[in-house]
Amino acid sequence: MTLQLDPDTHVLGIETSCDETGAAVVAGGRHILSNAVATQDDLHTVFGGVVPEIASRRHTEVITLITDKALQEADTSLEQIGLIAVTQGPGLIGSLLVGVSAAKAIAACYGLPLVAVNHLEAHVISNFIALPGEQPPASDLFPTVCLLASGGHTSLALMHRLGSYELLGETRDDAAGEALDKAARLLELGYPGGPAIEQAAAGGDPAAIDLPRPYIADSHDFSFAGLKTALARYVQANAPETTEDISNLAASFQQAVVDTLIRNLSATAREYQAKQVIMAGGVAANRLLRSNLTQLGDSLGVPVACPAPQLCTDNAAMVAAAGYFVAQRTGASSLDMDVFSSLPLSQ
Ligand code: KG4
Ligand code: ZN
Repeated sequence: MTLQLDPDTHVLGIETSCDETGAAVVAGGRHILSNAVATQDDLHTVFGGVVPEIASRRHTEVITLITDKALQEADTSLEQIGLIAVTQGPGLIGSLLVGVSAAKAIAACYGLPLVAVNHLEAHVISNFIALPGEQPPASDLFPTVCLLASGGHTSLALMHRLGSYELLGETRDDAAGEALDKAARLLELGYPGGPAIEQAAAGGDPAAIDLPRPYIADSHDFSFAGLKTALARYVQANAPETTEDISNLAASFQQAVVDTLIRNLSATAREYQAKQVIMAGGVAANRLLRSNLTQLGDSLGVPVACPAPQLCTDNAAMVAAAGYFVAQRTGASSLDMDVFSSLPLSQ
């Protein structure tokens, strides 16, 4: 049974799928009233990646504080909330359980409906949150081709409308963000690797070293493992000695990742005669990728969209916004809902 919501229903979103603890209040699925995020980068940087046990412990410590912060910043009390939306997966089980347990407790105490949100759909829907001065995309922008590039996923999906996702391709090995994280670890740039590579690449020569642009014939799939290995081999044979060397390696790697993503996105958009091309996920915060998307839109003659950088990386506003649409599509979830480490975008 679907859930009827007002155009102004305040949704409390909770996100704890990986190492970001997020809580947000979004009105009517489109207007962000608050978006509180506590990152754990400082805890994981020494390990060069997320340590699941540390992540879930920190979520437990801060979930209440972050939820209170989101409500305060939105000037909203729990009595004014009409729906709780929480990430159900994909993600780290221990991390997901913290957010889902908090959401269930609030829903039970305040007699509120609860809706389970797919983290991947939340990333996509972050494109449909109205930002000040912007209008939501009109329905004549479908079919839309969407590139979702994060630390755990790199997928291409065809959308016929909001909520309809046809998975066209995904990575066969590493995700784009994972490849950037591994390259940053190799270059000793810290975690998360994407922003570190982007920063180190500034002023570097993107053509300094010759790296492959992995391509899988007759497929929309991606592969980044070979690219990562090519960088590792190069570094083994030519250890970087100066900041300039590191900068050139970071710029060359970033360029190869962006070229690979854009080439596949471009071919897919042409094949399906997309009326709009959008991106989502943490990697979509990358400035080089964003400027290449703009150029792609110009060459295809179609509008492009990409969420603001703080809405590309994990956050709860996207979960609240997605929850508003999902609850009206599928109805409320039961209080005994489970969490899932893997969950496809299209079900
Ligand atoms: O969506 P997200 O926050 O979490 C997942 O759902 O995985 O994505 C995190 C990934 C990490 O691999 C991180 O290195 C990458 O997104 N990332 C970036 C940038 N900011 C985050 N990659 C490239 N450039 C960035 N500015
Ligand atoms: Zn994510």
